[in-house]
Amino acid sequence: MRSDGDSWDIKTSVGATALFVAAARGLAARQPDPLAVDPFAEVFCRAAGEQWSALFEPGADTSDHPLVSTAFGRNFQEFQAARTRFFDTYLTRAVGAGVRQVVILAAGLDSRAYRLPFPAGTVVYELDRAPVLEFKREVLAEHGAELTAQRCEVAVDLRDDWAKALQQNGFDAANPTAWLIEGLLLYLPADAQDRIFETVDALSASGSQVAIEQMDTIPADVYSQMTKPSAEAPGRNQWATLLYNEPKSEASEWFSQHHWAANRTELADYLAELGVAVDPDAGQIRPTAASFVDAIKR
Ligand SMILES: C[S@@+](CC[C@H](N)C(=O)[O-])C[C@H]1O[C@@H](n2cnc3c(N)ncnc32)[C@H](O)[C@@H]1O
Repeated sequence: MRSDGDSWDIKTSVGATALFVAAARGLAARQPDPLAVDPFAEVFCRAAGEQWSALFEPGADTSDHPLVSTAFGRNFQEFQAARTRFFDTYLTRAVGAGVRQVVILAAGLDSRAYRLPFPAGTVVYELDRAPVLEFKREVLAEHGAELTAQRCEVAVDLRDDWAKALQQNGFDAANPTAWLIEGLLLYLPADAQDRIFETVDALSASGSQVAIEQMDTIPADVYSQMTKPSAEAPGRNQWATLLYNEPKSEASEWFSQHHWAANRTELADYLAELGVAVDPDAGQIRPTAASFVDAIKR
């Protein structure tokens, strides 16, 4: 279970979720006709070693890894590839509209500053905890990856007041910004999520954009099953214990009420639009429970 001020590195607690979604992206990229290709996702997993590199080693026994062994794993790979595609499209559209300041909250192993074709002069601020940002920087430097934008690390805890740290690193609230909040809200208490929305709004000039991934609250009986310790597979339900599964503000409503024009896209509809069939009952994250919100400040 979580506690105020708990901390992690790339292989522990919430930090390891960045590796988990990177692994899903790396595996999805190997499928025929992938929805998105993040060439650095596999590089991170190989550098992390252990169960993460095994996923990409031919002949390694990964039969008990949830990303490959279950219907959940296959669906989760599609989900991650779809969300990568959705948010890649969002950022490409935002810079196409002239925005040159991008802020990625909980950047984790997001490699967009190394792989999206950003126009000259684009600055990408990446916010996450220091050990996570360091791992990414070191692995990609070792790999010889080249930046496609100016990348600026801002090492913070997003439960604290992070606005000052962002501004001290050169962020200018007078210029329009494209914000990205992907894979974060699940891991925040409801009040910290509201503070994030308030800060994004306060730091956004007119014409700023935001894109957010959110999940419905998991019904209490399902969540209590998910977090029950399992004697046969200790650690199986560890992920669920990292969540703050409590009622939270719905992002499209929140931003609509604060003078943003907001749209909500259900993941299930987006997958259907892309022609992807998924099993709605396959495991912990059901496609019906996730949605993407994008909004523009008036
Ligand atoms: C599931 S990963 C998502 C990473 C990335 N956005 C992506 O989609 O690949 C969750 C990330 O949120 C970060 N995170 C969660 N809570 C945080 C907090 N309170 N402060 C800073 N980072 C946080 C973790 O360190 C981790 O990198």
